[in-house]
Formats: sequence, structure tokens, C-alpha cells
Amino acid sequence: MTKQSLIVLGIVAALGASALAATKAAPPKGTATISLPGDAGMAFKPGPGAGVVQGQCLSCHSSAYVSTQPQLTRAQWTAEVAKMKNVYGAPIPDDQAPAIVDYLTTQYGKP
Ligand code: HEC
Repeated sequence: MTKQSLIVLGIVAALGASALAATKAAPPKGTATISLPGDAGMAFKPGPGAGVVQGQCLSCHSSAYVSTQPQLTRAQWTAEVAKMKNVYGAPIPDDQAPAIVDYLTTQYGKP
């Protein structure tokens, strides 16, 4: 083995050892809490139908996805709910969609 290849071998071994040491680092203890902007407790405004929306619209994203939209019309909220169901696969029962649209139009929309 040449001197150069011994040096290369030494570098590879050192890198390997440091990678091993990094994986052995202990995980941090305790619980960390982070708050994200706009998430305000994952809560929708109170009002008729809020419970249905709370149950159907928080499994994939926060309420901020709704509260940060411009005031949408009923037709736009209807399309939005249909998109969640048909494009993104939200398991919204057909008989609950009208209550959800009513709620969204009243609380986050314009007639
Ligand atoms: C199955 C998962 C899922 C559920 C349940 C769900 N959404 Fe979404 N929603 C998504 C995804 C995915 C996006 C797009 C995220 C992105 O573009 O970053 C999205 C985005 C949105 C947006 C932003 C505008 C847009 O069209 O991208 C709104 C408003 C929204 N959702 C409303 C709702 C409402 C209201 C409900 C309840 C009826 C709901 N979502 C339930 C998956 C879901």
C-alpha cells in the first residue's frame, strides 16, 4: 500500500468514526412547544355548524387555511368544499357539505 492510499484510508476512517459519534448523540430531554403564526388554537369562529367544520376540516390542516382566505362567496365556498372532498380526498359525508358551506359563507364569506 502506498503512503497516499494510507492517508486516504486514515481520512475515511476518521470520517466514519465522527459520523458514528453523531448518531450516538442523546435526544434532547423534555417537551418543546412551538406556536406557528395564524394557527390560533386550530379553532374556527363559533356559530351554527362550527362543530361540523371543526370535525371535518382540521384533520389535514389548520383553521388558518380558512381564516386567511379573502371573503369568498357561497359559490366559491361550495367549490372549495367540493375540492377538499374530490381532489384532496377529505371524507366529508354528502349530507354534511351544505352545513359546512352555510357556516363558511356566514362566518368567512360574503353572501
Ligand atoms: C384530506 C385532507 C383535507 C381535508 C380533510 C380538508 N382539506 Fe383543505 N386542503 C387540503 C390540501 C392538501 C390543501 C392544499 C394545501 C396546499 O396547497 O398547501 C388544502 C387547502 C385548503 C384551503 C386553501 C385554498 C386551496 O384551495 O388550496 C382552504 C380554504 C381549505 N383547504 C379549506 C378546507 C375546508 C373548509 C375543509 C373542511 C370542509 C378542508 N379544507 C378539509 C386538504 C384537506
